[in-house]
Amino acid sequence: MPDGDPASPPPSCPQSSVDSSQYSEDCLFLILYVPVAAAASGNGLNTFAWIHGGSFYYGAATNPGLDGSTFALSTGSIVVTLQYRLGVLGFIPPHSQNGGINLGVKDVTTALSFLRSVLPSFHGNPDGITVAGQSSGGMMVRALMAAPTAAKLFKNGIIQSDPMDFNFLPISAYNILQSWFYSKLPCSPATCPTSQLLSTQSYLLGNASTISPAAGSAEPIRPSVDGQFITTSLSRNSYPSLLKPLLVTTVMDEAGFLIGETLPLGFPEQNYVPIVQATFGNRTATILASPWYNVSSMKVVPGQPDDRTRETLSVLGSDATWRCPSWSFARSYAARGGNVYVGLFRRGATYAGNDASDFCTVGGRVCHQDDIYITFGTTPSPTPDQQTLTAEIQARWGAFVKTSNPNPSNANLGEWCATTSTAVKAIQFGLGGGIAAEDACRRSFWGNAVLFDWQIYGV
Ligand SMILES: *[C@@H]1O[C@H](CO)[C@@H](O)[C@H](O)[C@H]1NC(C)=O
Ligand SMILES: *[C@@H]1O[C@H](CO)[C@@H](O)[C@H](O)[C@H]1NC(C)=O
Repeated sequence: MPDGDPASPPPSCPQSSVDSSQYSEDCLFLILYVPVAAAASGNGLNTFAWIHGGSFYYGAATNPGLDGSTFALSTGSIVVTLQYRLGVLGFIPPHSQNGGINLGVKDVTTALSFLRSVLPSFHGNPDGITVAGQSSGGMMVRALMAAPTAAKLFKNGIIQSDPMDFNFLPISAYNILQSWFYSKLPCSPATCPTSQLLSTQSYLLGNASTISPAAGSAEPIRPSVDGQFITTSLSRNSYPSLLKPLLVTTVMDEAGFLIGETLPLGFPEQNYVPIVQATFGNRTATILASPWYNVSSMKVVPGQPDDRTRETLSVLGSDATWRCPSWSFARSYAARGGNVYVGLFRRGATYAGNDASDFCTVGGRVCHQDDIYITFGTTPSPTPDQQTLTAEIQARWGAFVKTSNPNPSNANLGEWCATTSTAVKAIQFGLGGGIAAEDACRRSFWGNAVLFDWQIYGV
């Protein structure tokens, strides 16, 4: 791959999900989309810098739907998609490199710093960067806010579908993962082939929740509060002094893909309680006693077989891992004086790969990643509803990138109110809009009656 050849897409960072010819350790690229007419009419364009997801061990700036052209043209902002080191190469360096913890977060910081230096050449304003990301990319946005050297490089944050339930990795869990990994690596770190690092990494991912329950199984490789680079956890008791304006969104059926992929249609109800027990341990009784997670009170989709067990597990998993911790975060952020707007995608566009899940493709479900095409305006063969939703999202995101307020003055959209310490006021995208009920995400339930993982493991 010729460095700097703008016509060929960059290789991704090393990961086992693509062929080794598709990745390179020389992978710290960013791709710029500059709206030419807006740039010609003056300097000072704002920038939307996108951080891809992939649980910190896969994904790339060239993933499906991340073509920034439509977003750049409709919002008059520069769009950037960027890459950072992944997996053990980005997050678990050998003991001899302990200063290198959080390398992937430092890569994004270096990219933002570089971007600020080149933006004037593209009619961009170095002080006008909004960082945005989906899933682990959303957690990366929070890690940047929690790292003082990174936080001074951007103005706003957009966090889409960040699994906030487990938050950053406690440093004690990091140390355990690091020791385990290097004890299993059958070669010296300095000379070990990349392919060997990746195969031992797959063992680490497969065993993580046993090696360290605090690391969990969903996203064990992730940023850590090291006290030097990342200095706060952004959990209830530890916030930076400067709080950026934020958009925080989730989608309706975040957990749906996993459920559809692992459990069959019509999954029997007798398996429900054992799964809840295995996942939530001593939190189970409180969850089952609540009005929100009863299989018998779920609706059957008209014309479809009874799929209420999977439906209930999807609602529970989505609430526990994404929606309720995000809403709880937003209330706490607002209580500290931060300006945060919360949204819930009720409609989406099935992302590449999600069509493999029978659960995600019926009943208009919106699974994890189904907000990506909508945000970028890259839905293949969009329906009129999807086009309308993309127009709304790009109008709001574009206004936020410019003014830190997602209510464009010139569009006929309902008002998106900021969250307060007591009311989330999540706006719904699709299905007629309006404000979503807090129901299970109310303050008295998740985070108080039922603890999030980050509370149990003390991040
Ligand atoms: C756990 O690690 C061992 C090596 O210690 C490996 O053989 C095994 O396949 C790993 N398990 C998973 C599920 O990856
Ligand atoms: C529930 O289990 C967690 C560990 O998973 C423990 O920290 C906590 O004290 C337990 N709570 C109760 C009420 O037993």
